Amino acid sequence: MIPGPTMVSPRVLRVLAKPVLSHVSGEFVDGFVEALELQKKIFGTEGTPFMLSGSGTLGMEAAISNLIEKGDKVLCVENGFFGEKWEEIVGPHGGVVDRLRFDWGDALDLKMLEEKLSSNDYKAFTVEHVDTSTGIANPLDKVGELAKGTDALYIVDSVCGIGGMPVKMDAWNIDYCLTGSQKAVGAPPGISMFCLNEKAWDVVEKRKTPIDDYYANLKRWKPIMDNPRGYFATPAVGMVLGMLEALRIIDEEGLEARWRRHEVFSEAYMAGLKALNVDWFPAKGSEAHTLTVPVIPESINDSDMRGLMRIKYGVIIAGGLGKLGGKTVRVGHMGCCTNNDLVATMSAMEMSLMELGHAMEAGAGVGATEKVLTTLKTEA
Ligand SMILES: Cc1ncc(COP(=O)(O)O)c(C=O)c1O
Repeated sequence: MIPGPTMVSPRVLRVLAKPVLSHVSGEFVDGFVEALELQKKIFGTEGTPFMLSGSGTLGMEAAISNLIEKGDKVLCVENGFFGEKWEEIVGPHGGVVDRLRFDWGDALDLKMLEEKLSSNDYKAFTVEHVDTSTGIANPLDKVGELAKGTDALYIVDSVCGIGGMPVKMDAWNIDYCLTGSQKAVGAPPGISMFCLNEKAWDVVEKRKTPIDDYYANLKRWKPIMDNPRGYFATPAVGMVLGMLEALRIIDEEGLEARWRRHEVFSEAYMAGLKALNVDWFPAKGSEAHTLTVPVIPESINDSDMRGLMRIKYGVIIAGGLGKLGGKTVRVGHMGCCTNNDLVATMSAMEMSLMELGHAMEAGAGVGATEKVLTTLKTEA
């Protein structure tokens, strides 16, 4: 129950166990084509999809190395660990960083962003969909309204969002969006997925200077994404087909139903925490649906609690990230996580807190979680 890598459906695991195919075999090429079509669906775009071997970070770096030229200004919008990561990528590729920084977990101030963007001298700006360090979700749709009035490219990191929360690239004016395979999409780590709309692709095409990447040069990969029978570098055939199975599972569940399920998981876990007198981290009303970030009561040592949860109850959650280490823990509830997984996690947390002396009523957290989960109607 960490916020990625997440649990993977046995359906995906069975595909991964199959014999390795040739990268130019009909079976693989057909699978790759279908996977790219399904990728466009979860990104909500008619733009160009890319599916490469790598992790989410590859999608971040490919955005900068392909869209940014020496001296281009990039505004990094930051309210957590991953938002701040963009700065480290922009510099080495010759871009000039400006930042709009908020305290970790604070909601993004749209007015301040609008003022920054109105200067209109940014080539691009980066926004985290969900910052996995704090559990905050930024309002991509509202930022998209601001993006409409500017030439700057709107770049979104949805590594911890897509597959669990709405992303509508085309409707929300997002020019470049990326995710990884190991979170709400429900596959193992190893695949980097991103899409560019026409505006972004035009910027790549019309660059004045060469792209300073070889493997992540999207001009080399575009012909392969248009026709996966071609060759530039060997795709991770097994992983692509595993990804295809994960994408089929999403398609069968339906995006709206899947988004709703994640929303209810988030509400249910927060209701449980409230009943246990445990607070959670990001600004209220801005919580992501893919993970919850409880703030550990002062009398409790977070690693004692996580240790009990793991050893005694068999549930693994993550510690706080960066400066939130020791103060928070992170519970991932995305991808193929079930109602039972959520209840078991709340139960393990509740019993561990009780054993460590936290003042609470036995069963209160689980009861509150269950109540919210029953609001999610499912046909029997
Ligand atoms: C929001 C976010 N962005 C980017 C990354 C980096 O992705 P990866 O570790 O797959 O390279 C992560 C990883 O957890 C993340 O949570």
